[in-house]
Order: sequence, then structure tokens, then C-alpha cells
Amino acid sequence: MQVVLIDGDGIGPEVTAAACRVVAAAGVKVDWVRAPAGAAAAAQYGDPLPDETLEMIRRYRVALKGPCTTPVGKGFRSINVRLRQGLDLFASVRPVTTLPGIKTPYEKVDLIVVRENTEGLYAGLEHEVVPGVVESVRLITRPAAERIVRFAFELARAHGRRVVTFCHKADVMRLSDGLFLECARTVADEFPFIQFDEKPIDNVCLELAADPTRYDVLVMENLFGDLISDLCAGLVGGLGVVPGANLGTRYAVFEAVHGSAPDIAGKGLANPIAVVRSAAMLLEHVGHRPAAERIERAVVKTLQAGAGLTPDLGGRGTTTTITDELVRHLVG
Ligand code: NAI
Repeated sequence: MQVVLIDGDGIGPEVTAAACRVVAAAGVKVDWVRAPAGAAAAAQYGDPLPDETLEMIRRYRVALKGPCTTPVGKGFRSINVRLRQGLDLFASVRPVTTLPGIKTPYEKVDLIVVRENTEGLYAGLEHEVVPGVVESVRLITRPAAERIVRFAFELARAHGRRVVTFCHKADVMRLSDGLFLECARTVADEFPFIQFDEKPIDNVCLELAADPTRYDVLVMENLFGDLISDLCAGLVGGLGVVPGANLGTRYAVFEAVHGSAPDIAGKGLANPIAVVRSAAMLLEHVGHRPAAERIERAVVKTLQAGAGLTPDLGGRGTTTTITDELVRHLVG
């Protein structure tokens, strides 16, 4: 099986290498086809997302991606936004579950964040009106809004989930989130056997902090989804453990929620679990569910055993020691 591999920047190469090792130990033969993206690609190719990388994903359909650095407030447009828009990876899926051995304020968190990935304030429609005044367009279209809500319901149905909560701010952004909410209600009617809930996003934040176990599937627009994904990662042990997928009808790119972590890059301290679990989602996506489940079990056993864990998990280990443990629990 050929799968595109984007190493990414910062800790990207360290954690993607770990994921490839774990996939091999799970017994799936993957021929990783390397594609450039990120700050390193910008230096080498003059573009942080060269056309050939998009072409390779179009050819092989699936990719595992390490995080890519994006300059703040200047320089090139976010690679992630370009990738998601260019391949129409309209749905971001982030499963957030409590893991053993990680001390968190809550037990039994088990929710999925579904984020619209191509529109909203991340559509990249910004301009300077006059010096000192800029305008960003919050793009919401009916087809994209209906598509993401339908995706969330279908995901809920496929995974035996009971409640889909649509998060919005329609009381303030009456037109944009008003349209999104109307679309959500319309689509919810197609799924009478799954409970539909609608909640203001600020209320959702409060409730996630107070008791995240009450949520099942959450669906929302791009910016809200970005923020809620990180918030939810914090509920179950941080950015180092939460996986993610960017899915479209033709292509799929799997990546962790976290970024390139320049503060720990090159130090061997990055936790690879989020990317390892993203690779497990990839395997499930391409029909290797047993191997994906074995990897998930190895993650659980590694965390339970508590040996070799990276500093973000309270350990004194390194990327290598935790990967050794994952592999040991896979083959043992
Ligand atoms: P970040 O997620 O890279 O780091 C935030 C904090 O979490 C840092 O203290 C970091 O050390 C820690 N952390 C993140 N991943 C970790 C891991 N696997 N193990 C242990 N600790 C981990 O977020 P930040 O600093 O805001 O962004 C850095 C760069 O990454 C930026 O250029 C940003 O644009 C980019 N980024 C890229 C993403 C992607 O490619 N999907 C997603 C988010 C950010």
C-alpha cells in the first residue's frame, strides 16, 4: 500500500518517524511516499506547499502529515488551510477520549469534534480597506454547511453515537451562523433516530470545562472547531495524545491536532502518540481496522504501564523510549 508521508516542520520528522515504526510493528506493509511541505519546503522549492505534493496526494488518495510551521501575521498562507481547501478536505474529525494513566480532572470523556474545514473566517478572504482598517470575510455557504452537518450525523450513525450538538453564535452573527443553524436543523430532520442539540459556542465552552462527559458528537464551523479541538485535547492529556483526520469525498489527510512545537523540536522530547493514533485512524480508513485497533490497544497499555513516557505525560522518557514501548506492546 502506498501512502503519502509529509514529515512537516519542527517535531514533525521525529513524530512521523515514530508513527511509521509503529505501523510497521502493527504488521501493515506501507510504502511511504515522501512529499515536501512546510517551512523547509518553502526554502527548497520556493513554496511551502509545492504543486507536486498536492498531485501526490491526489494520486495516492491518503496521506499522513506532520505539523507544518506557519509564520504569524506575515509570509505565506497557512499550508494547512491551502491543503484542506485544495483537496476539499471539508471535514476535520478529532476523537477525544480519556486515556488511562493520564491524570485529568474528568474520567470517561468520549466525544468527537467535527469541524468544517474549508470556509468560515479561515476562508482567507481578508483585505485592507484603508490603512488601519482590515476586513475578514466569514464565509458560510449552504452546500458546505449542510455537507458538514450531514457528515457529522453519518459519523454518529456509523459509530453508534446518540447526540449531535451543533455549536454556533447565531444570536450575534445572525446571517452567517443563522444560515448555518438553519442548515443544521434541516439536515437533522433526515436523522430522526439521532438526537439533535443546538447550543451557543460560549455555553459549550463553559459546559466542556464543567463536565465534558455530557457531549457526544460536536459539529461547528472552522474557527470554533479549531479552538474547541485544542480545548478538548486539554481535557484528556494535551496536544500530544489527540489524533485527527481531514476528510473529503476523494482524499484523506491524517494529522495530529498539535503544531510543530518549535520549543521542543530536535530535543527528542516530542510525544508521538497523537501522530501514532492519527496513523491508526488512517489504517482504519483504508480497511486495516484490526491493525488500527492493535495500535490503540498498544497506546493504552503503554500509558497504563507508564514506562518511557515523554515529559508532557509526566515521564522522563524521550520520543524513542515511548516509541520502543509502543512497539513492545504491539509485538509482545
Ligand atoms: P504547538 O501545538 O506546536 O505547541 C503548543 C505547546 O504544546 C508547546 O508547548 C509544545 O511544546 C507542546 N506540544 C505540542 N505538541 C506536542 C507533542 N507532540 N509532544 C509534546 N509537547 C507538544 O502550537 P504552537 O506553538 O501554537 O504552533 C507552532 C507552529 O505550529 C506554528 O507555526 C503553527 O502555525 C503550527 N501549527 C501547525 C499545525 C498543523 O500543521 N496541523 C497545527 C497547529 C499549529
